[in-house]
Amino acid sequence: MKEGKNSDKEVIILGIESSCDDTSAAIIRNETILSNVVANQKIHEEYGGVVPELASRAHQQNIIPVVDLALKRAGVSGEQISAVAFTRGPGLLGSLLVGTSFAKGFALSRGIPLIEVNHLQAHVLALFIQEMNVETASPAFPFLCLLVSGGNSQIILVRDYLDMEIIGQTIDDAAGEAFDKCAKVMGLPYPGGPFIDKLAKEGDPLKFPFTKPRIPGLDYSFSGLKTNFLYFLRDRLQENPSFIEENKADLSASLQHTIIDILMGKLVRAAKTLNIREISVAGGVSANSGLRNALKEEAVRRRWNLHIPKFEYTMDNAAMIAIAGYYKYLKGEFAGQDTVPFARTQL
Ligand code: KG4
Repeated sequence: MKEGKNSDKEVIILGIESSCDDTSAAIIRNETILSNVVANQKIHEEYGGVVPELASRAHQQNIIPVVDLALKRAGVSGEQISAVAFTRGPGLLGSLLVGTSFAKGFALSRGIPLIEVNHLQAHVLALFIQEMNVETASPAFPFLCLLVSGGNSQIILVRDYLDMEIIGQTIDDAAGEAFDKCAKVMGLPYPGGPFIDKLAKEGDPLKFPFTKPRIPGLDYSFSGLKTNFLYFLRDRLQENPSFIEENKADLSASLQHTIIDILMGKLVRAAKTLNIREISVAGGVSANSGLRNALKEEAVRRRWNLHIPKFEYTMDNAAMIAIAGYYKYLKGEFAGQDTVPFARTQL
């Protein structure tokens, strides 16, 4: 069994994630994950998006059973936990409060350290998660990480586990939002990203040319594309009410192609400018098969060392919170009982 290369000591962290609509708990021993339990909240599907008040109520119902199951699956007792790490932000305040309060209570009752984790930093650190009996190559520092999720689109320069700098980011919508909002216009369920991905496999990516932004530097913008998509469909539907139904696959493929082109353009520029060939991707949108293929092709062309996390560690999960907690534990970066969650934070 591979254990963490950063410490000889055995450190067991309980990680808690409750920033949006997934309640998750994970146990990690050094860098090796022992369990990662995620309870999805189905309640939001009928509203076409996450309803914050319903999310925090569901977190309250889920948190204890989810932690209990994570401990059981890991074969670890509460007494063996070295510290508890929780997502402090960014996220929905009501949701974050549930995880924060639980973590504080757990730490206080057991007399163990409390560790606050930045959700974005954790998405990047998911690249270092090891699984029992499986050796996974981790990125070497410094590396670039394309962090693409429902709330963020950023290019991050990672100098060390806890030393990260955002060198480019969206000035309006995130890539995941572009997927989800355009999917909603097409009448697809929420979140639409995975449905667009599936439909795109059958469609022509060059059938409909959509708008690409002209933003200076390494920043992104996706709101123009969303508006372009909306008006394009409105006009076509006036001519043919079945336009969406008849062109679902081509619309999905063309939209996905445009989003990937925008993401890859700035990533390539960042890699060239900084002369870095160690490249990674993180966040929910990194599950997109088209983006994964584009990254792999670019990696071959540009001789990048590409690191893509396992699917289950790209979505919101507590395993990434636990590993971030582990690195903070090694540095003695602990939080006080007066720590409060943040809706918006930078790295
Ligand atoms: O990181 P994440 O799980 O959580 C939040 O940011 O809240 O990312 C969720 C986002 C959603 O926008 C979802 O549509 C998108 O990731 N997503 C995808 C795919 N799987 C998830 N987008 C495109 N293709 C996918 N296969």
